[in-house]
Amino acid sequence: MKPIGIAGTGSHVAPKVMTNKDWLKHVETSDEWIYTKTGIRERRIAEPEVATSDLAVEAAKKALTDAKVKVEDVGLIVLATSSPDVPLSATACIVQHKLGAKNAAAFDVNNVCSGFVYGLDIGWKMAAGDSYKNVLVIGAETYSRILNWKDRTTCVFFGDGAGAVVLNECKPGSGLLASTLYADGSGHKVIEIPAGGTRMHTTHETLDKGLNYFFMDGKAVWDFATVKFPESVREVVAKAGHKLEDVDVIIPHQSNVNIIKKSMEVLGLPMEKAYCHIHKYGNMAGASVPVALDEAIKEGKVMKGDLVVTCGYGGGLAWGANVFIWDK
Ligand SMILES: CC(C)(COP(=O)(O)OP(=O)(O)OC[C@H]1O[C@@H](n2cnc3c(N)ncnc32)[C@H](O)[C@@H]1OP(=O)(O)O)[C@@H](O)C(=O)NCCC(=O)NCCS
Repeated sequence: MKPIGIAGTGSHVAPKVMTNKDWLKHVETSDEWIYTKTGIRERRIAEPEVATSDLAVEAAKKALTDAKVKVEDVGLIVLATSSPDVPLSATACIVQHKLGAKNAAAFDVNNVCSGFVYGLDIGWKMAAGDSYKNVLVIGAETYSRILNWKDRTTCVFFGDGAGAVVLNECKPGSGLLASTLYADGSGHKVIEIPAGGTRMHTTHETLDKGLNYFFMDGKAVWDFATVKFPESVREVVAKAGHKLEDVDVIIPHQSNVNIIKKSMEVLGLPMEKAYCHIHKYGNMAGASVPVALDEAIKEGKVMKGDLVVTCGYGGGLAWGANVFIWDK
């Protein structure tokens, strides 16, 4: 396999800011509850005419510019999303068309909050063979559209945005070193949209009951995430032949600051090693990791030669982690 690394990153969040206080117009909540329980102060909400592919295209353009790759040279687009433009066709194909990436294959990975971590591993393995060069891996979500704005146990957590990376051949000894991916579908009801699929199609009744919206058993997510986040980081670092102390930066899924704090405590690593900007964006599901990675790099939190771990966990249940040496 050829060595493959991240040649460029980009991100785009919806411009409109919605603060915790703004949620008071919709549900009984408080800035204090939201901030204490999640670390979130505000999130971004897409304008009505904007869908997931629009956010994805903006992030992808920035990543391509950063990597100095022309759009016609993109060989593959892997899009992690659980809030697609439409149930089908794949949103990745819509992105391919809007970008004008006329030589690219394209498909979606629907694995909710671990989607990008899955996508990065898939993109790496596909780029490492002879068939695909300049692989775009994007995470993009418009959760404001799939949330029930009357359900305070879910709506305040999420926001809209997209992040992207370009993968191509790099120097031997740098780039992606290892990934670990897992799933446990016995927990598929912990996070779900119950209706709108082939199990329960959309009816007036499902709409009246709010079954076409996102549901989350928050406490079950907590129990799962605070075990699987540290477990997958430990495993992926060992798989790459490194020690936990060698890790310079962890870019975790931005689920909740308390999950991140607890997991770093379990790992025995200082919180300063985890990049966290959840206060300004909330949880952007599959877009969280690539947006955080892009901002961490632009803020100088990821330096040339750093050993970086990305990790994601959520609906499925599914979880995983990747480790790479940042060499740009
Ligand atoms: C959900 C979570 C915050 C609950 O934390 P907790 O400390 O166990 O919660 P508490 O028992 O103190 O609070 C729950 C209460 O807050 C209430 N509550 C829920 N959302 C609220 C909101 N937005 N504003 C005010 N109160 C809220 C609940 O109704 C419940 O009230 P009740 O006890 O009267 O039934 C916590 O389990 C968690 O962080 N889970 C992970 C969720 C997550 O990160 N999901 C992302 C998906 S990857």
